[in-house]
Amino acid sequence: MEKVVALTKRRGFIYPSSEIYGGLSGFYDYGPYGVALKRAIRDLWWRHMVELRDDVVGLESTLIMPSEVWAASGHLTNFVDPLRQCLGTCKKRWRADTVKGDTCPECGGPLDEPRMFNLMFKTHVGPVEELSSEVYLRPETAQGMFVDFKNVINSTRVRVPFGIAQQGKAFRNEITPGNFVFRVREFELMEMEYFVKPEQDDEWFDYWRKERMRWYVEELGLNAERLRMYDHPQESLSHYSKQTTDIEYDFPFGWGELEGVADRTDYDLRVHQEHSKIDLTYLDPETNERYLPWVIEPAVSVERIFITLLLDAYDEDVVNEEPRVVLRLHPNVAPVQVAVVPLSKKEELIKVARDVQRSLQGEFRVEYDQTGGHIGRRYRRQDEIGTPFCITVDFDTLNDNAVTIRHRDSTKQERVPMADLAARLGALVVER
Ligand code: GAP
Repeated sequence: MEKVVALTKRRGFIYPSSEIYGGLSGFYDYGPYGVALKRAIRDLWWRHMVELRDDVVGLESTLIMPSEVWAASGHLTNFVDPLRQCLGTCKKRWRADTVKGDTCPECGGPLDEPRMFNLMFKTHVGPVEELSSEVYLRPETAQGMFVDFKNVINSTRVRVPFGIAQQGKAFRNEITPGNFVFRVREFELMEMEYFVKPEQDDEWFDYWRKERMRWYVEELGLNAERLRMYDHPQESLSHYSKQTTDIEYDFPFGWGELEGVADRTDYDLRVHQEHSKIDLTYLDPETNERYLPWVIEPAVSVERIFITLLLDAYDEDVVNEEPRVVLRLHPNVAPVQVAVVPLSKKEELIKVARDVQRSLQGEFRVEYDQTGGHIGRRYRRQDEIGTPFCITVDFDTLNDNAVTIRHRDSTKQERVPMADLAARLGALVVER
């Protein structure tokens, strides 16, 4: 973990938020390669959850929602963690389920009795801070899909079974943020509420568990041996869930939740129907039956995928008798898919290299790397940020109109006519 954290800072993936003022615990900024990686994760998720399907539509709801939503959904009462504070010297606060006994793990002082602490960030709309103006930053995007359910079925041609997907920021005032971006206070959720016939929840629950696991292995390239499914026992289920399976990853700090797939039953639609007094039932056009659909929900944050990808991809090996650090990221998500590196700073090489760069931009995530230094050093830099392919323009290029593709993982080199380069890279990079 320390090595990955150091790499993300060194290479401009992640910085602590507001670092020049000492940072803010549980908040992070994303630098140039971090932004590229996050975008790639988001796009790949959207592509497979929405664009390549004909049964899922998108939604963007607001980050701030009124108290009524959170009262109805149960978050005001149930979205709590038990908190214990140290009464000794350090005064640290702990999540009760992470400490054993009654003494503070930091200073050994006594801990107070557990109190329930709500994880939602509260603020006010308008100039007066009173009860009626209280609103909350959403701790999940899911409620947007439920409160807009009627709007979506009335304005589109969706038919059960169908899903509504959303990506966007969520906020949780976590008591103990940590493990880098694994648990943060501001993060980006990617959630899909899949509405099904009530008696079909088990079969769709199973479908989505398997489909999400497949996505991690086949599309993101995660090592299947470091993934497993964990079925929650009844006593640890969220207040809305009939059954939940976590897709877990074998992190350096132990197995941890990467994504949750939950069977939310008709809990949310039912409570919103009761509180809002708006009929949220669905009329089946074939059977004329009216019912509240049940919901299967795969939910994951971009940040969890981000840290998992980096940990899974990080490797050290030896090339030409020199140690190297390499991120073996899948080309689908690599922040830079193709780096164009002219062998030297000679004018005639730069011209051709720039032409190659322009011809590939738009189709691939391309970086032009002419920084000084030996070509080997530039390859190493690209290895560290996970670039799967470097295109080298050398003096032979001026005569044979061919370039070299250098493969990150094997370090093998392949000579390709410039006319065939885009097609060859397409075969290598574009979703396999
Ligand atoms: N709508 C269901 C829901 O929010 P959750 O298990 O609380 O369920 C879903 O969260 C996913 O969001 C988790 O599997 C994890 O990927 C991510 N997540 C939750 N809390 C997080 C945090 N504090 N920081 C980063 N990601 C988080």
